[in-house]
Amino acid sequence: MTSETLLRASDLDSGYGRAQILYGVGLELRRGEVVALLGRNGAGKSTTLKTLMGLVRAKRGQITLFGERIDTLPPYRVCRMGLGYVPEERRVFAGLTVMENLEVARRPSRDGIRSWTPERLFELFPNLGRMRERRGGEMSGGEQQMLTIARTLMGNPLAVLLDEPSEGLAPVIVDEMAKGIAELKREGLSILLSEQNLRFATAIADRAAIIESGVIRFTGTMAELFANTEVRDRYLAV
Ligand SMILES: Nc1ncnc2c1ncn2[C@@H]1O[C@H](COP(=O)(O)OP(=O)(O)O)[C@@H](O)[C@H]1O
Ligand SMILES: [Mg+2]
Repeated sequence: MTSETLLRASDLDSGYGRAQILYGVGLELRRGEVVALLGRNGAGKSTTLKTLMGLVRAKRGQITLFGERIDTLPPYRVCRMGLGYVPEERRVFAGLTVMENLEVARRPSRDGIRSWTPERLFELFPNLGRMRERRGGEMSGGEQQMLTIARTLMGNPLAVLLDEPSEGLAPVIVDEMAKGIAELKREGLSILLSEQNLRFATAIADRAAIIESGVIRFTGTMAELFANTEVRDRYLAV
């Protein structure tokens, strides 16, 4: 793993209208690593990811992707630069089949990246491969969650933001999701995911940041987080 920084946020203030939610948030995602943004419900995880994507506009601070400023770009431009985003609420096309959902999201590949195809994605998420002709609207929440991730990958991003990928999944599906994300990391994808589930994050993340009341309270490796019971007890639901 090189230590090249793909995505860097510094000193971000952000929020909705007059309500400020993030205070001076700083984060870094390096090439090939998985970073978990941990925090309780309402801590500011989704707002952070939306601000990185440009869906919510930062009021202060800087965001760079591959060294270029993106904090004034619209979300579709950020996406085209190679940053994929999977929102908390699953957004599959209910009337389209699994295959069709994937095909509509296909984008040209990037230099040095092996293009994603439905077949490769089905190796990653075997569950999806068993329901190619099923319509999005007839899938469970967990299956839709996997399809949303798979669809984002069809755009061949270099890094992805995943908002609570394990949320609301049945235990057996959580395991499949963890395996899928670990495999994405092996493929060289850089991943920033938000999580409340420390066990899930521990299984796949290299580093963690903890957010509480819109402020980053801790940044470190998963091992450092584990060694720090005080931080864990104070900021994470157990
Ligand atoms: N669209 C919105 N308008 C106003 N406040 C919001 C909106 N979305 C979220 N918030 C508030 O921002 C805070 C952080 O929410 P969020 O980023 O969704 O937290 P998390 O993802 O960690 O659960 C919460 O207090 C929430 O009520
Ligand atoms: Mg959230």
